[in-house]
Amino acid sequence: TTIPVLTIDGPSGSGKGTISRHVAQRLGWHYLDSGALYRAVGVAAGWADIDLDDHGALVRCAFDTQVGFRADPGGELRVVVNGVDATDELRTETAGAAASAIAAIPEVRAALKDRQRDFRQLPGLVADGRDMGTVIFPDAAIKVFLTASAEERAERRYKQLNDKGVSVTLGGLLREILARDARDAQRAVAPLRPAEDAVRIDTTGQGIETVVERVLALVKP
Ligand code: C5P
Repeated sequence: TTIPVLTIDGPSGSGKGTISRHVAQRLGWHYLDSGALYRAVGVAAGWADIDLDDHGALVRCAFDTQVGFRADPGGELRVVVNGVDATDELRTETAGAAASAIAAIPEVRAALKDRQRDFRQLPGLVADGRDMGTVIFPDAAIKVFLTASAEERAERRYKQLNDKGVSVTLGGLLREILARDARDAQRAVAPLRPAEDAVRIDTTGQGIETVVERVLALVKP
Protein backbone atom coordinates (compact mmCIF):
# COMPACT_ATOMS: atom_id res chain seq x y z
CA THR A 1 0.00 0.00 0.00
CA THR A 2 1.01 3.59 -0.36
CA ILE A 3 -0.98 4.99 2.54
CA PRO A 4 1.65 6.81 4.62
CA VAL A 5 2.28 5.79 8.22
CA LEU A 6 4.33 7.59 10.85
CA THR A 7 5.11 5.32 13.81
CA ILE A 8 5.92 6.76 17.22
CA ASP A 9 7.16 4.18 19.73
CA GLY A 10 8.68 4.58 23.16
CA PRO A 11 8.31 3.80 26.87
CA SER A 12 5.50 5.10 29.10
CA GLY A 13 5.78 8.81 29.84
CA SER A 14 8.08 9.51 26.89
CA GLY A 15 5.43 11.89 25.54
CA LYS A 16 4.30 9.55 22.75
CA GLY A 17 0.59 10.12 23.25
CA THR A 18 0.73 13.91 23.40
CA ILE A 19 3.22 14.23 20.54
CA SER A 20 1.33 11.73 18.35
CA ARG A 21 -2.00 13.48 18.82
CA HIS A 22 -0.52 16.89 18.01
CA VAL A 23 1.33 15.60 14.95
CA ALA A 24 -1.78 13.76 13.67
CA GLN A 25 -3.84 16.92 14.10
CA ARG A 26 -1.28 19.10 12.30
CA LEU A 27 -1.06 16.63 9.39
CA GLY A 28 -4.81 15.91 9.33
CA TRP A 29 -3.98 12.18 9.59
CA HIS A 30 -5.74 9.44 11.54
CA TYR A 31 -4.41 8.50 14.98
CA LEU A 32 -3.99 5.04 16.51
CA ASP A 33 -3.47 4.80 20.28
CA SER A 34 -2.49 1.11 20.35
CA GLY A 35 -1.88 1.20 24.11
CA ALA A 36 -5.58 1.97 24.57
CA LEU A 37 -6.43 -1.34 22.85
CA TYR A 38 -4.23 -3.29 25.29
CA ARG A 39 -5.60 -1.28 28.21
CA ALA A 40 -9.17 -1.93 27.01
CA VAL A 41 -8.59 -5.69 26.91
CA GLY A 42 -6.97 -5.56 30.36
CA VAL A 43 -9.90 -3.61 31.80
CA ALA A 44 -12.52 -5.80 30.06
CA ALA A 45 -10.78 -8.89 31.46
CA GLY A 46 -11.07 -7.32 34.93
CA TRP A 47 -14.77 -6.61 34.43
CA ALA A 48 -15.28 -10.25 33.42
CA ASP A 49 -13.26 -11.48 36.45
CA ILE A 50 -10.82 -13.27 34.17
CA ASP A 51 -7.67 -14.39 35.94
CA LEU A 52 -4.47 -12.89 34.47
CA ASP A 53 -3.06 -16.44 34.36
CA ASP A 54 -5.95 -17.77 32.24
CA HIS A 55 -4.38 -17.20 28.82
CA GLY A 56 -7.14 -18.94 26.88
CA ALA A 57 -9.82 -16.70 28.37
CA LEU A 58 -7.65 -13.60 27.87
CA VAL A 59 -7.17 -14.38 24.17
CA ARG A 60 -10.95 -14.83 23.73
CA CYS A 61 -11.39 -11.55 25.60
CA ALA A 62 -8.97 -9.83 23.17
CA PHE A 63 -11.03 -11.04 20.19
CA ASP A 64 -14.39 -10.17 21.80
CA THR A 65 -13.70 -6.78 23.36
CA GLN A 66 -15.23 -3.97 21.31
CA VAL A 67 -13.19 -0.77 21.39
CA GLY A 68 -14.46 2.46 19.90
CA PHE A 69 -12.69 5.82 19.69
CA ARG A 70 -14.63 9.06 19.44
CA ALA A 71 -13.95 12.73 20.02
CA ASP A 72 -16.12 14.45 22.64
CA PRO A 73 -17.48 17.98 21.89
CA GLY A 74 -14.27 19.51 23.33
CA GLY A 75 -12.15 17.44 20.94
CA GLU A 76 -10.87 15.08 23.66
CA LEU A 77 -10.56 11.45 22.58
CA ARG A 78 -12.95 9.15 24.48
CA VAL A 79 -12.53 5.38 24.50
CA VAL A 80 -15.66 3.22 24.62
CA VAL A 81 -15.17 -0.39 25.74
CA ASN A 82 -18.06 -2.80 25.15
CA GLY A 83 -20.41 0.17 24.96
CA VAL A 84 -19.15 1.86 28.15
CA ASP A 85 -17.07 5.08 28.21
CA ALA A 86 -13.96 3.77 30.01
CA THR A 87 -11.62 6.70 29.24
CA ASP A 88 -10.84 7.53 32.87
CA GLU A 89 -10.48 3.92 34.00
CA LEU A 90 -8.11 3.21 31.10
CA ARG A 91 -5.70 5.93 32.26
CA THR A 92 -5.08 4.41 35.71
CA GLU A 93 -1.81 2.65 36.58
CA THR A 94 -3.91 -0.46 37.39
CA ALA A 95 -5.12 -0.53 33.78
CA GLY A 96 -1.54 0.09 32.57
CA ALA A 97 -0.23 -2.82 34.60
CA ALA A 98 -3.04 -5.12 33.37
CA ALA A 99 -2.31 -4.03 29.79
CA SER A 100 1.39 -4.77 30.22
CA ALA A 101 0.60 -8.23 31.64
CA ILE A 102 -1.78 -9.28 28.84
CA ALA A 103 0.45 -7.65 26.20
CA ALA A 104 3.13 -10.24 26.99
CA ILE A 105 0.87 -13.04 25.64
CA PRO A 106 1.69 -13.67 21.94
CA GLU A 107 -1.87 -14.77 21.03
CA VAL A 108 -3.30 -11.59 22.53
CA ARG A 109 -0.94 -9.51 20.38
CA ALA A 110 -1.90 -11.57 17.33
CA ALA A 111 -5.59 -11.04 18.10
CA LEU A 112 -5.12 -7.27 17.98
CA LYS A 113 -2.89 -7.13 14.90
CA ASP A 114 -5.47 -6.71 12.11
CA ARG A 115 -7.49 -4.30 14.19
CA GLN A 116 -4.46 -2.01 14.40
CA ARG A 117 -3.64 -2.32 10.69
CA ASP A 118 -7.24 -1.35 9.83
CA PHE A 119 -6.43 2.17 11.08
CA ARG A 120 -4.18 2.67 8.05
CA GLN A 121 -6.45 4.86 5.97
CA LEU A 122 -6.03 7.88 3.72
CA PRO A 123 -4.69 10.47 3.98
CA GLY A 124 -2.31 8.84 6.50
CA LEU A 125 -1.85 7.43 10.00
CA VAL A 126 0.13 8.34 13.08
CA ALA A 127 0.49 5.13 15.14
CA ASP A 128 1.59 5.32 18.78
CA GLY A 129 2.79 2.31 20.79
CA ARG A 130 5.66 -0.05 21.55
CA ASP A 131 5.94 -2.13 18.37
CA MET A 132 4.38 0.09 15.70
CA GLY A 133 7.63 0.43 13.74
CA THR A 134 8.95 -3.07 14.43
CA VAL A 135 5.90 -5.37 14.09
CA ILE A 136 2.63 -3.71 13.09
CA PHE A 137 3.83 -1.28 10.40
CA PRO A 138 7.39 -2.44 9.57
CA ASP A 139 7.07 -0.76 6.15
CA ALA A 140 6.26 2.67 7.62
CA ALA A 141 8.17 5.40 5.81
CA ILE A 142 8.86 7.41 8.95
CA LYS A 143 9.64 5.87 12.35
CA VAL A 144 10.32 7.75 15.55
CA PHE A 145 11.49 6.38 18.91
CA LEU A 146 10.89 8.78 21.79
CA THR A 147 12.79 8.54 25.06
CA ALA A 148 13.09 10.61 28.23
CA SER A 149 14.83 10.00 31.54
CA ALA A 150 12.83 7.78 33.93
CA GLU A 151 12.76 10.63 36.48
CA GLU A 152 11.22 13.05 34.00
CA ARG A 153 8.70 10.45 32.83
CA ALA A 154 7.64 9.83 36.45
CA GLU A 155 7.32 13.60 37.00
CA ARG A 156 5.10 13.97 33.93
CA ARG A 157 2.79 11.19 35.16
CA TYR A 158 2.83 12.72 38.65
CA LYS A 159 1.66 16.09 37.28
CA GLN A 160 -1.02 14.46 35.11
CA LEU A 161 -2.44 12.46 38.01
CA ASN A 162 -2.14 15.31 40.50
CA ASP A 163 -4.10 17.59 38.14
CA LYS A 164 -6.85 14.97 38.19
CA GLY A 165 -6.81 14.85 41.98
CA VAL A 166 -5.38 11.34 42.15
CA SER A 167 -3.07 10.93 45.14
CA VAL A 168 0.22 9.25 44.26
CA THR A 169 3.86 9.55 45.32
CA LEU A 170 6.67 10.37 42.92
CA GLY A 171 8.79 7.50 44.23
CA GLY A 172 5.93 5.02 43.83
CA LEU A 173 5.32 6.15 40.25
CA LEU A 174 9.00 5.91 39.39
CA ARG A 175 9.08 2.33 40.67
CA GLU A 176 5.94 1.42 38.68
CA ILE A 177 7.33 3.00 35.50
CA LEU A 178 10.66 1.18 35.82
CA ALA A 179 8.88 -2.14 36.46
CA ARG A 180 6.59 -1.70 33.43
CA ASP A 181 9.53 -0.65 31.20
CA ALA A 182 11.52 -3.70 32.27
CA ARG A 183 8.61 -6.03 31.53
CA ASP A 184 7.92 -4.38 28.13
CA ALA A 185 11.60 -4.48 27.14
CA GLN A 186 12.28 -8.05 28.30
CA ARG A 187 9.24 -9.92 26.98
CA ALA A 188 9.87 -12.49 24.26
CA VAL A 189 7.31 -11.15 21.75
CA ALA A 190 7.46 -7.63 20.34
CA PRO A 191 9.72 -6.25 23.08
CA LEU A 192 10.01 -2.47 23.36
CA ARG A 193 12.97 -1.52 21.19
CA PRO A 194 13.63 1.03 18.45
CA ALA A 195 13.26 -0.17 14.86
CA GLU A 196 16.62 -0.16 13.09
CA ASP A 197 15.46 2.67 10.85
CA ALA A 198 13.86 4.73 13.64
CA VAL A 199 14.92 8.28 14.40
CA ARG A 200 15.55 8.59 18.14
CA ILE A 201 14.45 11.74 19.91
CA ASP A 202 15.21 12.37 23.58
CA THR A 203 12.42 14.56 24.95
CA THR A 204 14.02 15.17 28.38
CA GLY A 205 13.73 18.90 29.09
CA GLN A 206 12.06 19.59 25.73
CA GLY A 207 8.69 21.27 25.33
CA ILE A 208 5.83 19.65 23.38
CA GLU A 209 5.99 22.18 20.55
CA THR A 210 9.74 21.63 20.01
CA VAL A 211 9.31 17.87 19.72
CA VAL A 212 6.23 18.21 17.48
CA GLU A 213 8.22 20.42 15.08
CA ARG A 214 11.13 17.96 15.03
CA VAL A 215 8.77 15.10 14.13
CA LEU A 216 6.91 17.16 11.50
CA ALA A 217 10.27 18.05 9.91
CA LEU A 218 10.79 14.31 9.26
CA VAL A 219 7.45 14.04 7.45
CA LYS A 220 7.98 17.09 5.24
CA PRO A 221 11.67 17.02 4.31
O1 C5P B 1 1.10 3.20 25.83
P1 C5P B 1 0.38 2.72 27.05
O2 C5P B 1 1.04 3.10 28.34
O3 C5P B 1 -1.07 3.10 27.04
O4 C5P B 1 0.42 1.12 26.96
C1 C5P B 1 0.03 0.30 28.04
C2 C5P B 1 0.75 -1.03 27.96
O5 C5P B 1 0.29 -1.75 26.81
C3 C5P B 1 2.27 -0.94 27.79
O6 C5P B 1 2.95 -0.92 29.03
C4 C5P B 1 2.61 -2.19 26.99
O7 C5P B 1 2.82 -3.30 27.85
C5 C5P B 1 1.35 -2.47 26.21
N1 C5P B 1 1.49 -2.08 24.80
C6 C5P B 1 2.11 -2.95 23.95
N2 C5P B 1 2.19 -2.67 22.62
C7 C5P B 1 1.71 -1.52 22.14
C8 C5P B 1 1.09 -0.58 23.00
C9 C5P B 1 1.00 -0.90 24.35
O8 C5P B 1 2.58 -4.00 24.37
N3 C5P B 1 1.79 -1.28 20.84
